[in-house]
Amino acid sequence: MVMSHLNYNKKVLKEFQHPCNMGDIPCPDGHGKVGNPACGDIMEVFLKIKNNKIIDIKAKTFGCVAAIATTSMLTKMVKGKTLDQAMKITKKDIIKAFGDMPPIKEHCSLLGLDALHQAIDDYKKKNK
Ligand code: FES
Repeated sequence: MVMSHLNYNKKVLKEFQHPCNMGDIPCPDGHGKVGNPACGDIMEVFLKIKNNKIIDIKAKTFGCVAAIATTSMLTKMVKGKTLDQAMKITKKDIIKAFGDMPPIKEHCSLLGLDALHQAIDDYKKKNK
């Protein structure tokens, strides 16, 4: 068995082992799907939006420990937020919520955010 040499902190590992809001939403109001050019992993985000607020969010990923943990955290951070508030969340905010992240894994923390931004764009395009 190959063991990871990465030093994820306890909070990251806990979030990875028990991720929140994973799965999909049938007929979402917004949908985003992005690939990570660095590793080829894929992330999808599904949104339900009412009165400009994210009332539900689900994510589906074929990604690493960091991608799953950071996306789980992101879904918790944006639920109940307005679209503008959600757009203001940065990679730094997500990493701060964990304390730290192995630097080599920081790019993975962008995957959920990129998919979220695409899902919000998708919603805006459909509701012009
Ligand atoms: Fe692919 Fe982390 S290695 S998302």
